[in-house]
Order: sequence, then structure tokens, then C-alpha cells
Amino acid sequence: MGWVNDWLGLGLRWFHFMIGVAWIGASFYFVWLNNTVRPIEEGEEVAPGVAGGLWAIHGGAFYNVQKYGGAPGRLPKTLHWFKWEAYLTWITGFSLLILHFWTTAGSSMVDPAVADLSPLQAVGIGAGFLLGGWLFYDGLCRSPLKNHSGILAGLLLIFVTGASYGLFHLLSARAATIHLGAMLGTWMAANVFFVIIPGQKAVVDAMIAGTPPPLDRAKAGALRSLHNNYITLPVLFTMISGHFPQTWGHPQGWLLVLAIGLVGAGYRHWINLDERGIHRPWIPVVALAGFVGIAVYTRPTPAPVVEGQAAVSMVEVQQVIAQRCLPCHASQPIQAGWSSPPKGMILEEPRQILAAGPKIHQQVVASPIMPFGNLTQMTDEERALIGRWTAQQAFDR
Ligand code: HEC
Repeated sequence: MGWVNDWLGLGLRWFHFMIGVAWIGASFYFVWLNNTVRPIEEGEEVAPGVAGGLWAIHGGAFYNVQKYGGAPGRLPKTLHWFKWEAYLTWITGFSLLILHFWTTAGSSMVDPAVADLSPLQAVGIGAGFLLGGWLFYDGLCRSPLKNHSGILAGLLLIFVTGASYGLFHLLSARAATIHLGAMLGTWMAANVFFVIIPGQKAVVDAMIAGTPPPLDRAKAGALRSLHNNYITLPVLFTMISGHFPQTWGHPQGWLLVLAIGLVGAGYRHWINLDERGIHRPWIPVVALAGFVGIAVYTRPTPAPVVEGQAAVSMVEVQQVIAQRCLPCHASQPIQAGWSSPPKGMILEEPRQILAAGPKIHQQVVASPIMPFGNLTQMTDEERALIGRWTAQQAFDR
């Protein structure tokens, strides 16, 4: 049912995007508040317990926000909680994972050139990383390492690097990237569900009971919030990574996806410090240099032109394309899972193939991104033939 799948996919993704924006917007706002509130000065008149405050103007109105050092004297009548954005982002994201990957694992997750798995094994590996990753992460955060946030962060980075390497050596590159993002997104939502919100409930309950607030719970919540803050932008990249096969489609895709994520985390670090009044202008410069470095690293290598080799004719090229590309890149694709030509690219006629020449060079010759997951099993000889053909063309590479 291509039509149902298409619209279900659109609806889920649209909602995933809307609610995710709401989650990130609220969470970045509170990080900003926390970083920006200034301590109350001597002689300033504030309610008892208020430790800091700030003024802001937005949409033509003035806002005076106050932050309490601990709990306020009595519970306000209305207390706003922020949790549904997180839960719904995870639920819609997980549904998308099932719809686009788990139900079509044979074509979307298994790449025989990477590992010869059954669809069920591929789904098991994906689910294992989601569940196992969380159990490992959660265990580390509950261990005595929770008091050494720097060492903890280092260990987590090593773990995520290993997970990326593992995923990319078990699943198709595209599925590996999405599962890496889904694993980190699961940490974020589960942090809210299992640690941050229950911790806040415990604090509120203690207030009502008139007992001292459980400081360890509040501290655990703060650590998880800090992690969420840094994980957000890397996860956002994995969400849009489908558009950028030059990252995961590269032979070192597992490293490139991580490196792009780290650029995002670095940018976030700069903003966090800047909001606290600590100016480190070299951080965005390093992040940008890293980004440019990644781009340069993936530059296409021109196909070698061998002297005296017979010219490749359009007929030969068309034969290969008909067999290896048209299942997807046709006005009516016949490949299961595709109801319209990907990216609107149709390669039925010579003029269409010629117009797509530079892109074909990029995605077939310079790096073996196409055919998608090599589902149509293009051979090395055929790839070399396309390479000789693009080398013959006078377009800019
Ligand atoms: C199994 C389906 C499938 C097959 C077979 C396939 N492609 Fe693709 N192709 C895709 C998908 C999906 C995308 C879009 C990826 C993305 O979202 O960036 C794509 C994108 C492309 C692009 C990038 C288009 C753009 O505007 O960025 C090129 C070029 C391309 N394919 C060429 C080929 C060639 C040449 C072949 C045959 C050698 C081929 N593809 C075989 C599915 C396929």
C-alpha cells in the first residue's frame, strides 16, 4: 500500500518535526535562562528563596523571570511541566523507524556488501543498539562516575564512536546513521521519562510533605539535562542526514557522521559558555575549520583516464542504467518501496542521463553511494564503465 505508507510517513514526519522543534525550543530556552540569570544583588527586593533573576523583552512585552535557589515556600497553584514534547518526539520518531526501516529491513537495513544478515537479524541489531545503548548509558550515569562528569563524557564519546563503527559494519550505511541517531534520541527522551521528570516529582512530593528535597535526585536530573543539551544538535543532524549521502555513503561514513555531530556539539558548547558570559570566539572557528576539513576530506577523486581506451557509447551506458538504476529512477519505479523516482531523478532518456552526468559521477564513480544500498547489484566492471563515460564528458567535476 504505497499510498498509505507515503501519507503515514509524511504525517508522522511532519508531526515529529513540529513537536521536536517545540521540545528543543523549550529546552534551549531553559538552558539560556539558567545560563543568563544573574544573582540577586544586595538590597534588591525579592520574595524569600529567590536566588537570581533576569529581565527580557520579546514580542513587545517585558518579562521578569525569577529563579529559586531551592523550592519556593509553597507550591504555586499552577506549575508548568515540560515532558510531552519529549515523549511525543520519541514516539513519532520510533514509529518512523519502524515504518521506514524495520518493516522493510530486507531492502532498507541489510546491505550484503556489509554483512549478510536476514531482515530479522538486522531489526534485532537495530533494536539491540536502542535498548542496549540506553542500559549501558543509564548504568554509567548511575555509577560512581556520575561525580566525574568529564571522565563520564569521555567514556560516552568512546562508546558512541564504537557504536557508530559497529552499526556501520552491520547495517546499510543509511540505516546505521538513523539507528545511531535513534539511539542517542532514545537517551534524551528516556532521560526525561526515567530520571528528570521522576526527580522533579520527588522534589515536589517532598515540598508537599514538608521534608527536605532529595538533592541527589535533582543532581541526577541536572546531569541528564546537561547530556541532552550536548546531544541535541548531533541527533538533529542524523535526522536530516538522508539528504547528505556524501557523509554516510563515504567509505568512512561512521566517522564522518560522528565528526559532523561533534561540530554541532562544539557549536552548542560555545553558545553555552557565551550565555554564561565566557567568550571563546575560537570555538566556532575550530568547529568551522573541522567542518571544512570534513568537506575537503570527502572531495571526489577524478576517475583516471586511461590512454587509448575505447570511447564508451551512450548505448552501453543506457544498458547499465536500465538494469541498475531504472528500478528506482524511472517515472514508474518497480523497486519495492519506491512509488516515485527518488529526488525526482529520472534516467530513462539519453538527455536525462547527460543532464545528470555530474551527479552520476559524484554518486556512482567518486563514491559508491548509488545504486542505493547497491540493491540492484551493480558490478565493479559496470561502475568502471560509468567511470570511463563520465571521464569522457566535458563537465566540471
Ligand atoms: C533502490 C533504489 C535506487 C537505485 C537502484 C538507484 N538509486 Fe539513485 N537514488 C535513490 C534514492 C533513494 C536517492 C535519494 C537519496 C537522498 O535522499 O539523498 C537517490 C539519489 C540519486 C542521485 C542524487 C540525486 C540528487 O539530485 O541529489 C543520483 C545522482 C542517483 N541517485 C543516481 C543513481 C544511479 C546512476 C543509479 C544507478 C547506477 C541509481 N541512482 C540507482 C535510490 C536509488
